[in-house]
Amino acid sequence: MRAIVLAMVASLCLATSGKAATMPDLARKNRCTDCHAIDKKIIGPAWMDVSKKYRDDAGAEIRLIQKVSKGGSGIWGDMPMPANDPGGRKQEDIKSLVEFVLGLSKGLSD
Ligand code: HEC
Repeated sequence: MRAIVLAMVASLCLATSGKAATMPDLARKNRCTDCHAIDKKIIGPAWMDVSKKYRDDAGAEIRLIQKVSKGGSGIWGDMPMPANDPGGRKQEDIKSLVEFVLGLSKGLSD
């Protein structure tokens, strides 16, 4: 667990220092990487695009935690995202991942 947290912190530092961010281990562990990449659409939207969309949206973190946990569709297209935490046992992971996504666009000027 500690190693995972450290990896998250390391990738957050990379994301905010202007270097190309890479998917955190937590995203691999939770299989987000099956459908998402940072800078290109796979099945789901690029996480950088998600980050830019919600950059000025103070309520986004809470809503995205819900959405990632329970799944949903209609924001980026018709393809639904399945529930990633239907049992509510991975909320800490989901929160860290949403914070990582939202942090990707911090400090960008466009
Ligand atoms: C089976 C494919 C799949 C997996 C696995 C998946 N996603 Fe998604 N994700 C999608 C799709 C498709 C969308 C677009 C949904 C929409 O248009 O509303 C999406 C949208 C999102 C969004 C934006 C939601 C919005 O309302 O704008 C976030 C944030 C996100 N995913 C994070 C994650 C995280 C974190 C994980 C891993 C815990 C994950 N996703 C796993 C397919 C997936």
